[in-house]
Amino acid sequence: MAIGSLSKLYYLSFRNNRLSGHIPPSLGNLSSLVSLDLLGNTLDGSIPEELGQLEKLQYLTIDGNKCLGKIPYILYNLSSIQVFGVGRNRLYGSLPPQLGLFLPNLEQLYVGGNRFTGPIPVSLGNASNLFILDLGDNNFTGSMPMSIGWLKGLKLLRASYNQLVSEKDEEFTFITSLTNCSVLEKLHLSHNKFSGILPNSIANLSAQLSIMHLGGNQVFGAIPSGIENLAHMISLRMENNLLGGTIPIQLMKLNKLQYVVLAGNKLSGKIPNPIGNLTQLHLLRLSINNLHGSTPRSLGKCQHLQLLHLSDNNLNGTIPKEFSDIPSLLELDISMNNLIGFLPSDIYKLKNLFRLDTSNNELSGEIPKTIGTCVHLEYLYMKGNLFHGSIPPSVGTLRGLQELDLSHNDLIGHVPDDLAQLPILEYLNLSFNNLEGEVPKQGIFQNASAVSVLGNNKLCGGISELHLPQCPKKDFKKEWPISRKVLILIAIVAALLSFLLLCLLLVWSKKSREKLVSTLSMGDNFLRVTYAELFRATNGFSSTNLIGVGRYGSVYKGIIDRMEMIVAIKVLKLQQQRASKSFRDECRALRSIQHRNIVKVFTVYSTFNLISGNDFKALVLEYMPNGSLDNWLHQSENELHPLKILNLIQRLNLAIDIACALDYLHNHCRPPLVHCDLKPSNILLDDDMVAHVSDFGLATIISEGINYSQCQTNSLTPKGSIGYIAPEYGTGANPSTYGDVYSYGILLLEMVTGKRPSDDLFKDDFGLHQFAKMALPESVMDIVDRRLLSEDIDIIRHNRNNNRVNSMVHECLVSLVKIGVSCSVESPRARKEMKDVIAELQKVRNFYLAATIARNV
Ligand SMILES: *[C@@H]1O[C@H](CO)[C@@H](O)[C@H](O)[C@H]1NC(C)=O
Ligand SMILES: *[C@@H]1O[C@H](CO)[C@@H](O)[C@H](O)[C@H]1NC(C)=O
Ligand SMILES: *[C@@H]1O[C@H](CO)[C@@H](O)[C@H](O)[C@H]1NC(C)=O
Ligand SMILES: *[C@@H]1O[C@H](CO)[C@@H](O)[C@H](O)[C@H]1NC(C)=O
Ligand SMILES: *[C@@H]1O[C@H](CO)[C@@H](O)[C@H](O)[C@H]1NC(C)=O
Ligand SMILES: *[C@@H]1O[C@H](CO)[C@@H](O)[C@H](O)[C@H]1NC(C)=O
Ligand SMILES: *[C@@H]1O[C@H](CO)[C@@H](O)[C@H](O)[C@H]1NC(C)=O
Repeated sequence: MAIGSLSKLYYLSFRNNRLSGHIPPSLGNLSSLVSLDLLGNTLDGSIPEELGQLEKLQYLTIDGNKCLGKIPYILYNLSSIQVFGVGRNRLYGSLPPQLGLFLPNLEQLYVGGNRFTGPIPVSLGNASNLFILDLGDNNFTGSMPMSIGWLKGLKLLRASYNQLVSEKDEEFTFITSLTNCSVLEKLHLSHNKFSGILPNSIANLSAQLSIMHLGGNQVFGAIPSGIENLAHMISLRMENNLLGGTIPIQLMKLNKLQYVVLAGNKLSGKIPNPIGNLTQLHLLRLSINNLHGSTPRSLGKCQHLQLLHLSDNNLNGTIPKEFSDIPSLLELDISMNNLIGFLPSDIYKLKNLFRLDTSNNELSGEIPKTIGTCVHLEYLYMKGNLFHGSIPPSVGTLRGLQELDLSHNDLIGHVPDDLAQLPILEYLNLSFNNLEGEVPKQGIFQNASAVSVLGNNKLCGGISELHLPQCPKKDFKKEWPISRKVLILIAIVAALLSFLLLCLLLVWSKKSREKLVSTLSMGDNFLRVTYAELFRATNGFSSTNLIGVGRYGSVYKGIIDRMEMIVAIKVLKLQQQRASKSFRDECRALRSIQHRNIVKVFTVYSTFNLISGNDFKALVLEYMPNGSLDNWLHQSENELHPLKILNLIQRLNLAIDIACALDYLHNHCRPPLVHCDLKPSNILLDDDMVAHVSDFGLATIISEGINYSQCQTNSLTPKGSIGYIAPEYGTGANPSTYGDVYSYGILLLEMVTGKRPSDDLFKDDFGLHQFAKMALPESVMDIVDRRLLSEDIDIIRHNRNNNRVNSMVHECLVSLVKIGVSCSVESPRARKEMKDVIAELQKVRNFYLAATIARNV
């Protein structure tokens, strides 16, 4: 392995790739290495001893691999280490007691998510620069050393999911020791064996504290009223402890709270009415306590509330009708209380509701017919109440329904036939009601273990496993006395009706086919996401999560819990007629392509609801933390920051990335694809500044020979992309790879000159192409984006005499402009091929690197 011979290498990162196998011991020969970053691969085997030879190492991150074994003791000799990351591997053994003395410069320590045992080293308190300490998800035992409290700069402490105990059973004094950590922001101590009274000293914890997670311990006592000091608290979780007393009214002053989880304690008293002051609440879990009194109406003011769990208390009174005014509500669980009255008929306003549980209360009245409007319902539990009347047929239109439990009520009437049509229903319990008539035999009713209809004495039919009596045969004799005329009339009416039905069916089947196209076209290897997951991931599609608005949709940033990663969620604009088509094109285009420089699609979501006409479509894409190339090229002066300037080599790399993506689409995709909408705002940059082409909403598969006209400039095309569109599209030419090459040429010129094709400088016949062409070759320096040379200008200043280097840089720029110009010539067939562009750009890059080395010598 040759990598070990790069003795001058000081920075090496393979972050977030798919490297597998062992970490090569030869890395130990990289004697200049300061930073080694292998985070997020699938490396296995043990951590090689040889890394202990890297005496200059300051950053070591091996987190998120599959490394096995103990941390080689020799690594603790690397006293320069500032960041030591071995989290989320399969490491075991214990940490040396002197850890904090061995590594006195430690700033960040990540050992979470392994199988470490033994005590937490007291000496960590001596690593006085430590500000991130992650010990979570291991099997550490013993008590939390009070010395952690010496770390004045500590910002994050995570020790959750271990076996840690309090020093003394009756006192949770470790919390008190943290009161000197005056910048502490995040404290995770949940799921240990901490016991003792929750001390009043929490009032003296850092005012910066935004996360306090103490759930799953054995903490008792009341929640101290001094908690009101923690004004920046966002997430407070103390579930599954032994906390008693009431919920302090002072908690309602923490108006930044978004997550409050106090479920599974012994809290009593009422839910304080000012809880409505917590207007930022997303999640409130107070289930399994001894709370009584009524449910506060003021909760209706919590307009961001998504999950509201109040189950298993002694709440009485009615369900506040204000609950129907929380549009963001996803889950409402008020089961196992003593609630009376009706389910508000306004419930239809909860368009996002996906789980409703009112089981085991004393609710009465009919099930509101409007429930069919809650189109995203997946779980509906209403068992053990006094609901009467019949099951509203609209329940049968809830096509996302997975579980429905209406058992132990007083429901009458028939089992709605539509329940048999629900595509993903997998649990249906209608037992112990007074239902009558025939039980269907199709859909879920074919599966006796998924359906329960016990205790309804007037039901008949169904499959034999349900053991119901046969339905009585209809007695036709009674109908004979009807006269012939009436019979003929009935026949005519029936014929008309069936004609209408046929029409309806045709319309319906057309729509359902549309649904199939978009959901199935991505193939089977994609994850299924639910609307609720998307909703939660984006905080209810909130504007704070919005990262971009495109022609056909909005893009949100979000975290889908199950995928444990940040993703971008592109939601289609429903008003846009073309959006739906664009979505299908994008799905179809992205179905088969996979390339390092093309944004990855994780999954798609699409629903169509026949009743409401609600149509919702979204694409879940790889999230690109560095935003779009457009932002990087055109920052206004005031946000200019030295780190945010793209230098020449970065621009060259990006240009090669984009060219590779196009070459792939044009020459390696079967059938070939034309992107049609290449421009800087559609180029996204990842963590490592690698370019990814995105937005395939206009992409066209050329071999199908369909004459799409989308590449053309038409009234729908916003001004922004006009400058990038090949001139021949204006005159009706079909989409072709030449068109993409044109856009690429313009984009490359924009990257070199820093000027948009829509710049005021440009008039009718005089565009970016002509502007660049005119400067060739002598005046190229006059048109380049000066920021691109920021590094070189220093060099040039310091090496006034080094004309050779200067002329080499000049030569690179000339070549770049030449490539851009020859890609954007008028005649389509005279434009370059992408594979030639790549080769030429690579040549320029090598030449430039040689020049840089030359000037450093
Ligand atoms: C490291 O370098 C030494 C001396 O140059 C060489 O003998 C050894 O084989 C190298 N080790 C590895 C693992 O490459
Ligand atoms: C650490 O370095 C010291 C001296 O530099 C040496 O004596 C000791 O053996 C080393 N420890 C390990 C585990 O190699
Ligand atoms: C560790 O820090 C504590 C408190 O600052 C100090 O008393 C102790 O001497 C230190 N230990 C060593 C070995 O430096
Ligand atoms: C906080 O620091 C002060 C001074 O450094 C010290 O006297 C006090 O005991 C510390 N408090 C805790 C709870 O560690
Ligand atoms: C909080 O700190 C103040 C000042 O250091 C002290 O007087 C008070 O007793 C502390 N409160 C608690 C509850 O520890
Ligand atoms: C709740 O908000 C109201 C109005 O802003 C305020 O008067 C009241 O003091 C707040 N209650 C609490 C407990 O913070
Ligand atoms: C249906 O509900 C009844 C009463 O709630 C319960 O006893 C029964 O076990 C349930 N059936 C199934 C299949 O879960």
